[in-house]
Amino acid sequence: MKNTWIVSASFFLFTPAACVADTALPVSAKHAMVVTEKRAASQVGIDILKAGGNAIDAAVAVGYALAVVNPCCGNIGGGGFMLVHFANGKNTVINFRGKAPLKANKNMFLDTNGKLKPGSTTSGYLSASIPGTVLGLDTALSKYGSMSRKQVMAPAIKLAQQGYRVSDYDTEWFAIYTPAFRSQRNAAAIFLKKGKPYDSGELLIQTDLANTLKLIAEKGPDAFYKGSIAQQIVKSSQAHGGIMTRQDFAQYSVEELTPIWCQYHGYSVISVPPPSSGGVTLCEMLSLLQNLPLQDNNYQSAKNIHYIVESMRYAFYDRNTQLGDPNFVNNPVKKLLSNQYTSQLSQRILNTTEIKPEDLMVDIHEQTDTTHYSIIDTKGNAVAVTYTINGFFGANVIPDHLGFFLNDDMDDFTVSPGQTNKFNLIQSSKNHIESGKRPLSSMAPTIIMNNKNVFMVLGSPGGPRIITTVLLTLLNVIDNGMNIKQAIDTPRYHYQGIPDVIDVEPLAFSYLTALNLKMMGYRLRSQPTWAAVEAILIDQKDKTIYGANDYRRPDGAALGY
Ligand code: DON
Repeated sequence: MKNTWIVSASFFLFTPAACVADTALPVSAKHAMVVTEKRAASQVGIDILKAGGNAIDAAVAVGYALAVVNPCCGNIGGGGFMLVHFANGKNTVINFRGKAPLKANKNMFLDTNGKLKPGSTTSGYLSASIPGTVLGLDTALSKYGSMSRKQVMAPAIKLAQQGYRVSDYDTEWFAIYTPAFRSQRNAAAIFLKKGKPYDSGELLIQTDLANTLKLIAEKGPDAFYKGSIAQQIVKSSQAHGGIMTRQDFAQYSVEELTPIWCQYHGYSVISVPPPSSGGVTLCEMLSLLQNLPLQDNNYQSAKNIHYIVESMRYAFYDRNTQLGDPNFVNNPVKKLLSNQYTSQLSQRILNTTEIKPEDLMVDIHEQTDTTHYSIIDTKGNAVAVTYTINGFFGANVIPDHLGFFLNDDMDDFTVSPGQTNKFNLIQSSKNHIESGKRPLSSMAPTIIMNNKNVFMVLGSPGGPRIITTVLLTLLNVIDNGMNIKQAIDTPRYHYQGIPDVIDVEPLAFSYLTALNLKMMGYRLRSQPTWAAVEAILIDQKDKTIYGANDYRRPDGAALGY
């Protein structure tokens, strides 16, 4: 096997201006904080908190607001996970991941020769799971919120009805998706103005979405799952080769799960369990790293990076071979996180003398189609939510005149044995499509505790890169002493075993570090920036709350008071 160092010519030819944040300082506050990818959504969260709502009320309001002002990623047509730490010490996860339709089956995306039909898992009605967001948000509100549905949905309805100002960042993406919008009359009517993409600063009014949200606000999730919304989605699905039925919607359920928990150098890490791989994979990496001699404050040393990348290798291997929806398969979580198992793997990493990359290269097309937000209220309740429609603008279909995109989460399943999905994951039969099953996710909304006190609230979009992004952010804080803004903005790297190459953001490695890694046998590949951490950190001494928005999402904001 050749030890070639694959580095594109652009690796050292980046423009620093594009890579450096405006400021390395987080926003500080005394009482509460909301951090999202869109300032208008952060404002909605803060307004709810100031009006007396708790973190759960704010999380539900922000969830709906992002569905309006972040149409690529915020959603009511997808699903996700809400992790809650209550001030009384309890923690819970609301699993509102979408489910495969009842008529779905293992071979639904394969042709008669057993080959994947190109594009079939990433666009169109067949690629969509039954969305969980509306029931997830409503369940959180009715169980743990204090405000009415109408109160928390009002800001989103207003933003849809009266419009929001399109940003420079929005226009870049809208321009790329203009051909897709043009191909559907109902999407074009919303996202194009006389057939052309919106200019920065123009008002984007979403009347259809406002009407859908109003119906949900008035009639509750039944409007979505049993009433006219389900009816219209099913009608559109059936008219366009989909398999969704009214029964899929009537039977859709969310569940509360016990979070995944692990320790890292005295901190408790709380994250989400299967059907997301996020928490297990993050905790497996941390457990391996805890046994390895990482040098403090030396995040750029090739030796540290070697240990971290090897931890990613083992944890991703286990992710891809061992995990799936726990309602269908057995997940050996206890074993994967046991001391015995993780110390064995750490020992293997310590004994590694030669890195032998496999010749397996696949291009990654990073898209931003998921979104994470973090909230803490005045009482100390903390909420971390990551939710997704998977591909940018999901399955690229808006049912009828409902005004929202459906997801293409079916691509997260193991669709064709041995073949990669859009995130280059090759997964096992545990993640095969089955009727009513949830596809394995990488979403990792996470809360770090210091004894009984919240220390960090964080998460990110990025498919499998979510997990390594959360890992590096918390290592940057805990091991490297960075403030939360620096920890987020510091350039990242990612490794998932296949393809056998370390993806590297501009400026992540110095020339010497890259050279040392090459000499160890690693291959590196330069990539444009990815993921977007929206996080909170609480100073354990003076209790100042710090919030930080990722510079990679210039429209985001940490707002506190
Ligand atoms: O659940 C998952 O793992 C994926 N559907 C997440 C997709 C994602 O984060 C895309 N964002 N860049």
